[in-house]
Amino acid sequence: MNKPIAELISTALNNEMPASEIEKLMEKPKMMELGDVAFPCFTLAKKFKKSPQVIASEIAQQLNSTLIQEVNVVGGYLNIFVNQQMVTENVLQTILREKDQYGSMQTGKGNVVIDYSSPNIAKPFSMGHLRSTVIGNALANIAEKNGYNAVRINHLGDWGTQFGKLIVAYKLWGDKEAIEASPIGELLKIYVKFHERAETDESLNEQARASFKSLEDGDEEALALWKWFRDASLKEFETIYDLLGIRFDSYAGEAFYNDKMDAVVGELKEKGLLALSDGAYVVQLEDMPPCLITKTDGATLYATRDLAAAMYRKKQYEAKKTFYVVGNEQSLHFKQLFNVIEKMGYEWSKDLQHVAFGMMLKDGKKMSTRKGKVVLLADVLAEAIETAKRNIEEKNQALEQKELVARQVGVGAVIFNDLKNNRMNDIDFSLEQMMNFEGETGPYVQYTYARISSLLEKGDFKEQAIQYDALGEYAWPVIQLLEQYPIIVQKSFEQADPSQIAKFSLHVSRAFNKYYAHSKILVEDEWKQMKLSFAFSVAIVLKDALSLLGISAPNKM
Ligand code: ARG
Repeated sequence: MNKPIAELISTALNNEMPASEIEKLMEKPKMMELGDVAFPCFTLAKKFKKSPQVIASEIAQQLNSTLIQEVNVVGGYLNIFVNQQMVTENVLQTILREKDQYGSMQTGKGNVVIDYSSPNIAKPFSMGHLRSTVIGNALANIAEKNGYNAVRINHLGDWGTQFGKLIVAYKLWGDKEAIEASPIGELLKIYVKFHERAETDESLNEQARASFKSLEDGDEEALALWKWFRDASLKEFETIYDLLGIRFDSYAGEAFYNDKMDAVVGELKEKGLLALSDGAYVVQLEDMPPCLITKTDGATLYATRDLAAAMYRKKQYEAKKTFYVVGNEQSLHFKQLFNVIEKMGYEWSKDLQHVAFGMMLKDGKKMSTRKGKVVLLADVLAEAIETAKRNIEEKNQALEQKELVARQVGVGAVIFNDLKNNRMNDIDFSLEQMMNFEGETGPYVQYTYARISSLLEKGDFKEQAIQYDALGEYAWPVIQLLEQYPIIVQKSFEQADPSQIAKFSLHVSRAFNKYYAHSKILVEDEWKQMKLSFAFSVAIVLKDALSLLGISAPNKM
């Protein structure tokens, strides 16, 4: 409703201010009693050389529309009550017509590349990787809801000197069968052992360097081991992705760019951007440390691979936008990367965005991954699912498909806990809190959805056009929220911020539960099917919001 009202205000101002700008200024009054929409006239005062009050009254006189019920001028504000009946019937009609397409935008066209998850081969999937996976997946879904095609890329950490160490460690202490049975755990074990031994035995590092060199030179035995480590680790990562319901379009990781870096380094040289510094090649940058391109021995680095990847993806996908979903400890890396690309003369560097995020804490402390002491994501998920299962046993023993529902609820809790806060915040990992059916949790939203589903079943639901009078006063806060969904879908993309969708789903759940507490739905009267149709509309939107976050909505739980 903000949009049509903004258009009315714009007309009242003789189109001297575009509706889009007016819409951005519009607010929600602090109290419901003041109105549904407020428009502050303070910034207009300067432009029109009149006091805010005068401008507000002038606009008020001209706001004649069936959409508007009442307009009050308070201070420099225009407080507007909309025609609730009209908005209610419109919104619900739209949702019932469009179903899960409600809120879908056609504004986006073309590809959006999302670089996310990107764990390192032979290393455990860390909590940071979990955050990247969950945030990246939600962003990809949100991009699609906005009309874009999402290209989901897992930029695997599958190259680097650690493979030299792993090859040496494997030859010394490796157990083929054990690795096949539990690849990442076993590889980590021998990797840790390598580091312990290397503290006293310097020759180990020498051997590792030589092994990595032979890998880079394409030695067959080294390559075969590398490939095996990669495939085995990937298989283990896949079980996590399956559990989370996540897929990728490409697993082109760092190694994929081995044969694509000469060209980039050559281009940098040609453009006069490479400078020699202590035998290494760097690109000098303003206001930040130089970006290291090749080491003294000619070996390329993480940044070189990212440069090659950006060039390759630009050609391959013509992306409108690229999101790199990586923890904020890599901020400098991405700043340097984007700056180098800008210096190369590519205006599309402005379309690259580092979508950073904070840390995952446990009891206020960082979860450590050093020295083999790790919190394994697989364990965390298993624990969440176990807790969900216990809840079901307690509350709803007769539930069908307990295993499936426990998985949906456990995994949903972990994902929602991650996405409900602004991504830059550090988040605390408390299983107990995130599983609380009454807290600000995934299970709470899922539970609201399941409750509606059971209402529909009990009430023998038949979809019906909704009349405002059927619903009662507590419906209005719900309607106002539902009406906002398309805008929230848009904003959460523009700001790369899935938390807006998560918070929205909490608000809708809370508003609907309040409605439900005050209204009898399953009463045999003329309004029953309309009230159920209203509940159904809420369910449609809740399910869609959850699915954008990557969370399932079971019908029963
Ligand atoms: N593998 C890296 C890590 O675990 C993350 C890669 C992020 N993506 C990128 N294009 N650099 O830290």
